Amino acid sequence: MSLHAYRASLLWFPDGHSHHVQFESDGLLVTERHADGVARIKAIGPHALLHAQYPEVACTDWRGRWIAPGFVDMHIHYAQTDVIASPADGLLPWLNNYTFPQEIRFADPVHAQEVAHFFVDELLRNGVTTALTFATAHTASVDAFFQVAQQRQLRMLAGRVLQDRHSPDGLRDVSAQQSLYETEELIARWHGVDRLGYAITPRFAPTSTEAQLRGAGELAAQHPSVWVQTHVAENADEIQWVAELFPQSRSYLGVYEDMGLLRERSVYAHCLHLDANDRDLMAERGATAAVCPTSNLFLDSGFFNFEQAQAHHLQHGLASDVGGGTSFSPFHTMHAAYTVARQSAGKNGHSLSAEHLWWLHTAGAAQALGLSGVVGNLAVGCDADFLVLNPASTPLMARRTAAAESLQEQLFAMIVLGDDRLVERVVVNGRVGA
Ligand code: GUN
Ligand code: ZN
Repeated sequence: MSLHAYRASLLWFPDGHSHHVQFESDGLLVTERHADGVARIKAIGPHALLHAQYPEVACTDWRGRWIAPGFVDMHIHYAQTDVIASPADGLLPWLNNYTFPQEIRFADPVHAQEVAHFFVDELLRNGVTTALTFATAHTASVDAFFQVAQQRQLRMLAGRVLQDRHSPDGLRDVSAQQSLYETEELIARWHGVDRLGYAITPRFAPTSTEAQLRGAGELAAQHPSVWVQTHVAENADEIQWVAELFPQSRSYLGVYEDMGLLRERSVYAHCLHLDANDRDLMAERGATAAVCPTSNLFLDSGFFNFEQAQAHHLQHGLASDVGGGTSFSPFHTMHAAYTVARQSAGKNGHSLSAEHLWWLHTAGAAQALGLSGVVGNLAVGCDADFLVLNPASTPLMARRTAAAESLQEQLFAMIVLGDDRLVERVVVNGRVGA
């Protein structure tokens, strides 16, 4: 088995289940490629201690740089790459005027492939090595995305969008039955192949008939290792619409509960306007929230309540929600999460620490996806997907991080000032990219 070592400053979460971060200023990270083709972390620690154990192993010297876990984006739409930065008076007009017309184009596999390549490049440039993404309501869009992710040896999750009503021609499923049949075929074709995973993907309650949602719930029960992803409680008009369409359900979240879609590995984007019962129910079922602060600010949807999520033990992590979100950069998303947490809390404010924000976009997001110990961390056994950060990437970043008096201050400065320039290289499955 082939080993490789990297010497640099190292940042990781040693216990994998809390946001306590560890920093080793002169560290050694050792990776090993396994028989299944996946390179994983073999050892991590101070160079002075570990070097003697691996004296013969080739070592890349990145002193002066930080190695940190690849970021995990819990909710994004690859087919909305060309929708980013489109203005609208809130969610529903934005969907109708910009998003649906773009998504219709993904019936064309050539277009889907081209966008998938660009999207993956953009994720990596920004330091995101795993994402849970929506495709569109076309099988071709999923095949294109997974083919690209497979070629690039990435760990990625994606699914074909289910939407059989209140959708334009070219995006509306011909029938619930056909869409579910295609979903089953895609699960068989892609789930668990290399580092790929499938997600059953009803768009949101208003664009699915009860038959489609129930069918999705049945598939979710038959395939427990498959993910479920959708949107919930994002926008006031949307919530009102759901109440009219599903008057028998207790709440918007209750619709998904009634259809069998609340379970472990189910990931709910937004979760802005939940009540205490909703939060308890999600926590009880092991469902998790994908928090999308740049999207929520941009579309004026509302503020995720971090305090309430913590109080109800509702697992959550960060996400860009591009193209509703305004940036692929996890630094922008963490910065927005900090702002939103301050805004949404009571009169004393709620300040998320830098290590907590970082956790929510790496090992915490991985945990919320059921991928703890697999991605989002540098702990032994994790996939070798990591970043080389340059804390002197801009004059201001260099000045501010050098002046910082603690690790927390340095991380906070990176979060507030950081963008793609901070990410100097990305290592995917043990292979160093540019
Ligand atoms: N709700 C239903 N579809 C979408 C979407 O594409 N983006 C967002 N932000 N919310 C949605
Ligand atoms: Zn979304």
